[in-house]
Amino acid sequence: MAPRKIIIDTDPGQDDAVAILLALASPDDLDVLGITAVAGNVPLPLTQKNARIVCELAGKPETKVFSGCDAPIARKLVTAEHVHGKTGLDGPSLPDPSMALQDQHAVDFIVETLRSEPEGTITLCPLGPLTNIATALQRAPDIAGRIQEIVLMGGAYFEVGNITPAAEFNIYVDPEAAKVVFACGAPITVMPLDVTHKALVTAERNNAFRALGSPVGVAVAEMTDFFERFDKEKYGSAGAPLHDPCVTAYLIQPELFTGRHINVEIETGSDLTLGMTVADWWGVTDRAPNATFMGDINADGFFSLLTERLARL
Ligand code: RIB
Ligand code: CA
Repeated sequence: MAPRKIIIDTDPGQDDAVAILLALASPDDLDVLGITAVAGNVPLPLTQKNARIVCELAGKPETKVFSGCDAPIARKLVTAEHVHGKTGLDGPSLPDPSMALQDQHAVDFIVETLRSEPEGTITLCPLGPLTNIATALQRAPDIAGRIQEIVLMGGAYFEVGNITPAAEFNIYVDPEAAKVVFACGAPITVMPLDVTHKALVTAERNNAFRALGSPVGVAVAEMTDFFERFDKEKYGSAGAPLHDPCVTAYLIQPELFTGRHINVEIETGSDLTLGMTVADWWGVTDRAPNATFMGDINADGFFSLLTERLARL
C-alpha cells in the first residue's frame, strides 16, 4: 500500500520532535509532504528553527519546512517555556540548522496542497495550537471537504487541563482556532491528555532510547530527561508523557488506540473554562458526533513501535 500523505503542523517542543522523528523514520507508512511550524510552546522563530533541527537530526534535510502563524487568531500568544525550556528543545545540544526554510507561508502550502492533491488523500497532523489549520480553513473553506482526516493532539476530558484546571495547552492557546477546526466537517481523530498521559517515558523506556546509541536515540533520551521534570513535579508521574508521538503512532498502528466517536465542542466564551474540550463521552446531549476522541492506548505496543522506528534513523 502506498504511504499515507501527511502534513505535520507543529510547535517543537520535545514531544513534537519525537513525533516528527517517528514519522520521518517510517517512509513506507508516511509520506511527509511538509512540516508547517506554528507559534505555541515557544514563539514561531524558534518552532520553525526547531523543526529544521529535528529534520537534520533525522538525516532528512530535504524535508520541506514552512513557517506559519506567529500568534493565535484572536488572542495574545501564550507559550510554555516552563515545560520545554527557553529554546523549546532544551535537553540535547543540537546544531543550528543549515537546511533552508521554505519561502511559502505554511497556510498557503496547506491550502495549495489540499487543492492540488486528489480529494481525500491528505491527512493533517496538528501537534500544536490549531492556528495554521483554522487560518487555512477560513481562507479557503473549500479545502474542508478535501481533507482525508485531521489527526490532532489536543484537549482532555477525564484528565482535565494541564495549563488551566479546565484546558489542555494546544486548545487553550487558540480556542477560536480549535472551534473552527472542530466545526469544519472533516473527519477528526483526537489524541487528548486522557491517552497521552498513559504514554509515559519511564526510566526503563528512556534507557531503551539511550541504548540505541545513535545520535537520535541519545537526543531523544536527553530531550525526555529535560521534558519529564514538569510532569513528574506536577503529577508525580513515572515519566514524561509523549503527547504528540501518539498522533504519528496512530497513523502507523491505529489498533494501539481505542476511543469513541462523540461530539466535542470548544469553550471560547468563559474565562474560567476557556479552551476546554467539552467532550460528550457519555452521549448525554443530542449534539452530532464530530470527532473520534481516544481514551486508551496500548502503551507497551506504542513504545516498542517508537523504539524500533527510532533505531532506523
Ligand atoms: O498539552 C500538550 C501539548 O502542548 C503538546 O503538543 C505539547 O507539545 C504542547 O504543544
Ligand atoms: Ca506540540
